[in-house]
Formats: sequence, C-alpha cells, structure tokens
Amino acid sequence: MNQLFARKSLKVLLDEMAGENRLKRVLGPVSLTALGVGAIIGTGIFVLTGLAARNYAGPGLILSFVVAGLACAFAALCYSEFASMAPVAGSAYTYAYTTLGELVAWIIGWDLVLEYAMGSSTVANGWSHYFLKFLGLFKNSATGQALITIPLWLTMDPFTAHEQHFDYQTAHALVVSDAQATVEGKAPRALPFTKEQGVHKVDKVEVQFTRESLEAAKAFDPSGHSLGRVKKSLENGLMFDPMTAPDEKLTNVKGGLKDGYTAYQETPLPFHFTFNAIAIAIVTVITAILVIGIKESARFNAAMVLVKLAAVIFVIGAGIGYVDSSNWSPFLPYGWSGVMGAAGVIFFAYIGFDSISTHAEEAKNPQRDVPIGIITSLAVCTVLYILVAGIVTGMVPYPEIPLDAPIAGVFENKGLKSASVIITVGALTGITSVLLVMLLSQPRVLLAMARDGLLPQSFFGAVHPRFKTPHKSTILTGILSGITASLFPLEALGHMVSIGTLFAFVVVCAAVWIMRFTNPDLPRPFRAPAMHLVAPLGIIFCLAMMISLGWQNWLRLFGWLAVGLVIYFLYSRHHSHLGKELRGELAQGGISPSALPRRGTGDHES
Ligand code: ALA
Repeated sequence: MNQLFARKSLKVLLDEMAGENRLKRVLGPVSLTALGVGAIIGTGIFVLTGLAARNYAGPGLILSFVVAGLACAFAALCYSEFASMAPVAGSAYTYAYTTLGELVAWIIGWDLVLEYAMGSSTVANGWSHYFLKFLGLFKNSATGQALITIPLWLTMDPFTAHEQHFDYQTAHALVVSDAQATVEGKAPRALPFTKEQGVHKVDKVEVQFTRESLEAAKAFDPSGHSLGRVKKSLENGLMFDPMTAPDEKLTNVKGGLKDGYTAYQETPLPFHFTFNAIAIAIVTVITAILVIGIKESARFNAAMVLVKLAAVIFVIGAGIGYVDSSNWSPFLPYGWSGVMGAAGVIFFAYIGFDSISTHAEEAKNPQRDVPIGIITSLAVCTVLYILVAGIVTGMVPYPEIPLDAPIAGVFENKGLKSASVIITVGALTGITSVLLVMLLSQPRVLLAMARDGLLPQSFFGAVHPRFKTPHKSTILTGILSGITASLFPLEALGHMVSIGTLFAFVVVCAAVWIMRFTNPDLPRPFRAPAMHLVAPLGIIFCLAMMISLGWQNWLRLFGWLAVGLVIYFLYSRHHSHLGKELRGELAQGGISPSALPRRGTGDHES
C-alpha cells in the first residue's frame, strides 16, 4: 500500500539530471516553441474541423475552439509551473510521481501512451487523407486521368470500408418517395424548391423512401444503422441545397461512399480486408528520421513549422474575401450541446503543447524556456484556429464542408484551385511535423518510466551510443502507431486520444494545485497566476469536454487504463526502484543517473 502512494522527491529528480547517460541539451526557446507549434497544428485543424462543423456544431465551431482553447490555456499554465519545477523527461508522468505517488504516475504514463502513440496514429491517418488529395493533383492534362493511383484497398481502414460498403448499397437501394422541408416554421413544402422562390436554406428536411426500397435496404441492413446514416446525410445535404432534386442528392451521397465500396470489393485477399498503407509508410519514414537524432529533427521541424504557419495564414488571408455571413446563420444549429461536442472533437487540434515538457531534458535552460515554449505556442495556435474556424464556416454552408480534406476542399468548392493546392501542400507538411513531435515525445515518456524501473530498462531505457536517441522504444512506438493508424478510423482514434489527453490534463491541474498546498516553499521559476482559479477551471473545462465525448469513449478509456493496471501489478510494482527501496532491496535515495542504486540518505517521500 505504501508503495502505491510513495512519491519520488523533486530533489532526486534534479540529482538525476546531473548524471551522464542523459539526452543532449540542444534546444533553446525558439526551437521549443517551434516544437510546440510543430505538435499542435495538424490533423485537428486540417482534417477534424470538417467533421466537427458538419456533424456537431455548424458555425458554432468558432465557439468550440474558444472553449477548448480556454481549457488548454488553464492546463498550459499548470503544465508550465510543473515543467519549471521538474525539468526532466517524462512530462505529466514525472510530475505525478512527485506529487500523487507511483500508482497515479503509472496511470498517467500509460495514459500518455494514449496521447502520443495513439495520437501519432491519428495524425498519420489524417496525413493519408491529404496525401491522397495531393496525388489527385497530378492529372494527365489531355484525359484528366490521375497519373499516380494507389489501389483503394490500401488507403482505407477496414472499419470505414465496411461501413461505406454497406451505406453505398443502402443508398443504391433507396428511392425517394417524398421530401418536404420546413422554411422558417411555416407549413412543410415539397422539395425541390424552384429558384424563383429565393429560398437557399431550410430549417428542417424530412425525406421518405418508397416501401419497396426500404425493404430492399433492410434485407441487408436489419439493424437500420446504415439506413439512419444515409438518411441523415441526405437530409443534411438538402437543408442547404433545397433546389436540387432529392433523388439527385441521394446519388451524390452514394458517390461519396463509392471509394469504401470499391476498396471493400477490390481487395485481392481471400477475405474483405483493407488497410491504410499510406499511414504506415509515413510513420516509417518519420521513425527513421527520429532514430538519427533530435538536433537534425529539430531543424527539419523548424522548416516544416514555417511552411504550415504560412499555409494557415494563407487560409485566413485568401478565404476572408469569400466569407458570406449568411452562412453563419443559424449559428448554433445543434445548440450548446453541439458546441461542447465539437469542442471534444477539435480539442485534438490543441494537443501537443504539453509535449514540450517531454523535451525539458534536452532544453538548454528548461526552467525558463519550457514555460515560454508552452504558452507561446498555445497562444499563437488558439488565435489562428479561431480565425480559420470562422473563415471555413463562413465560406460555405456547414453541411457542404467536406470531411476528407476539409480546408483545401472548401477552397476547391469555391473554384479556387491554386489556393487548394497551396493548402494541401501546407497541410501535408504541417501534419508531418506533428507526427515528428508526437513520435519524438512517446519514447521520452517511456524512457523516464524505464529509468524508474516501471518498464524494462534494457529496452525502454536504451540510448543509442552514437545518435544519443532512445532508438529501441522509438522503433517500437513507430511499429505500434503505424499498425493502429492503418486499422482504425480517424474519428475513433481522435476521440480516444482526446479523452486520454483530457484525463491527463485533469490530473496535471490537480497535481500542480495540490503541490501549492503540500510544497508551498519549493522554488517555482514559473508561477501560474491565480492558481486557485486556474487549476479548478482547468479541471472543470476538461471534465466537461470528456463528458461531451460520450460514454463509449469513457468505456474505451477505462479499458485502456485497466490494461495498464494489469501491467503495473504484474510487472512495474515489483521492478520499481522506489518499491525496491521501500522493501529494502535497494539502497534508499532513488536511482542514480545510470539507473544503479545510489548510496546515501533516503530521499523519497511516502
Ligand atoms: N494537435 C495535433 C493535430 O492537430 C495533434 O494534429
């Protein structure tokens, strides 16, 4: 019992920093901020924005970015204070070990695997969407045919292919018998409207299908799930395009599902299996770069960050002239619950600023530069995100925002071909840099856990003799992330990462707050202002977003944590250095930098 709540003292942490076998200190404030921006702007803004606007918040997405940004600001202040106190690799894991004890530290460390390794999977998956869009740019000018094609079954996770395969057939079977729309609360009218009526948007659409077609669809979809998805998609589309005939709209919906249907059908394997090989390829390339070294990767990262910042600023500058304020009405089509739901989804776009704290060990002056990096990168990205959300939802009606590569897609829909090309290239570069930082962060958390004995030191603690990088765990992270990215849908991965990260933020806010009471006199090179307001608000905002993510994601989070606890009780508890000290198997005083037991006075708190 003692061990579960035994805490590692800050002094031991700081002593460890003085040892050899450490990562090289090469990062200054600019590199750290670039790492932060590098980790933040990516799949969230370039890909998930479409999903969040279309299915959750509509134009209210702007408010969702404000809500998620505020939550992150509170968490960032707490992170900064903690990072300045405990400038070692490990992020929230290390912080929790010094305040809440070993068990909570383990839970957080395990949770950070969700954030970084699964986050990498999400990002790699999002990258593949933009890559396909990028390939689509190369066409034979005479025939208009794509010059480079990848078989569809190598571009899609099996769940998406399976679902689209079903929905395509459902859409194929259905025949519209009647479609009515309500305009401004008046009596319903039949669709399509004629142009002369001057109606561009309607409040509500209700589509009925013929009885035979419903029966045909139900024959292969007894649950009715597929029917529900197709119906919703059709009605949403008609709401903003009531002048198109409903059956033509249904054909469009079917067209959007064609790729999944084809992927599922065309797989050459004896069973219907598809996977996302593009996601695996990008993870492999980045993993190889990371094994070579952080300095090289930091330079590579800085260049990519400049390109993606330019792309985001371009979206704002080029899009602002096309904003039609009527697209912001209705502003909250799904109410405040939609705003909160979207906040939970696009919270993913903010993830990454905390990864700066995992690089504290490589910072030249961590106590000063890590807080600078965290706060600056978050502030810059929040402003840019709110502007991008306003522009994208203002350019087209929200049901028309594409899901796959929404930002570039919106410009394309407006006929702005070259702008769409620029954004696609910027997004690809930007998402690559997120992947770089995420795949860089995960091994550093594992390294910190291995140094404490919670994971096998020989594997996770190994630092490459020449490159000075944690090469073994970097490669393992790459393999696991690549496999996950290729097999699961973007939305499911993103939600899981968001709920895991929000949980970590809650714990960090609580831990930093507790430290103010338990260790009031510890030096805090960075002190978060109004801590007694900031920490509880951070906890409340993060919990609110966790609740908005729904019970399925809570279940997944609990499942993940349960697996972590099994590993802890079967392995980590017995191998923990702190635990061994408590049992008298090791000299007290924490572990030495070389992970050997130190002699000396006891330094841990229990
Ligand atoms: N914030 C990162 C992204 O949006 C994880 O891709």
